[in-house]
Amino acid sequence: MPQRAPTVDPGRVPDSELEDRFGRRFAYLRLSITDVCNFRCEYCLPDGYQGKPTGFLNRDEIQRLVSAFAELGIRKLRITGGEPLVRKDALAILADAAATPGIEKLALTTNAFNLAAQAEALRDAGLSAVNISLDSLDRQGFERITGDKRHEKVLAGVDAAIAAGIPSVKINTVLLGGLNDQEIPDFMEYVRERPVAVRFIELMQTADNGDYFRRRHVSGQTVADRLQAAGWSPMQRGETDGPAVEYSHPDYAGRIGLIAPYAPGFCDGCNRLRVTARGGLRLCLFGNGTHDLRPLLQDEADKAALKRSICQTLVGKEVSHHLHEGDFGDTPHLASTGG
Ligand code: 5AD
Ligand code: SF4
Repeated sequence: MPQRAPTVDPGRVPDSELEDRFGRRFAYLRLSITDVCNFRCEYCLPDGYQGKPTGFLNRDEIQRLVSAFAELGIRKLRITGGEPLVRKDALAILADAAATPGIEKLALTTNAFNLAAQAEALRDAGLSAVNISLDSLDRQGFERITGDKRHEKVLAGVDAAIAAGIPSVKINTVLLGGLNDQEIPDFMEYVRERPVAVRFIELMQTADNGDYFRRRHVSGQTVADRLQAAGWSPMQRGETDGPAVEYSHPDYAGRIGLIAPYAPGFCDGCNRLRVTARGGLRLCLFGNGTHDLRPLLQDEADKAALKRSICQTLVGKEVSHHLHEGDFGDTPHLASTGG
């Protein structure tokens, strides 16, 4: 396994034209290409995908969208889902995006069901970062949480991504009380030799998972306490980083991080916009409604109007989410918006 330090997200770039009323600039777009997922994570799609798997932006629409956003200053693009790799044209979409002038960093979020087979092709397509969802290192724990038996394949996917030389490999682990919070030492062991960053994400409440949230939500502080007790230290955060606080330890190749959306000030550094798989611009993961960009994606000639529409919509972005008031917006589950 190659030994490399994990790379840091470049994130915000100062010349983005996309700015909101609070002076936040947006150089990072998360684009969902499907809301279909083949896993059944308990907190997300406990009964599996129930939607209608049609009407997603096609490759041409996606390319027009990416190009317009890049002209407005988007430098980092993340392709998400659902599970993006269930789309047959996922690789082609990624290659188009990587070749778009202005896109400097291309990332993918995946459950890794098929990553081992595709890691090299993804690298060749120009992928610079992959985030893999992995909630348990224990086979039974994984099957319980995801409703899926492909634990081995997911683990192989992580190692294949490292071996292929994809520059940044990260793992997202949703912190679940009584299900994986006892695995923090196992994850430490996992990164001893592997140059990956494991980031624990505090479980977020969505419209569909209220009971589960009340049962399983634990504060990210428990992770921070355990890391510090084991000699891990928080790393200096660059102003361009995402919302994770990462810890390092001299004896470990990888890092462990924490994403705590309920922590004060979480939204201050917000640097991202989202577009749903059907072309809706969404200003906040926990917001309400989307602005439909699709009518302006049909013709190259509409590009100027598309860019104006994006900038105008951004004026409506609010200063913060309202999670603390128990308002988590209209997101039924994260498969619908790409997390
Ligand atoms: N809270 C926190 N993380 C979630 N994810 C999906 N739903 C939730 C939730 N309710 C995670 C997935 C994946 C990432 C895109 O978001 O596990 O790692
Ligand atoms: Fe699929 Fe991700 Fe939702 Fe799990 S969390 S069901 S992998 S979209």
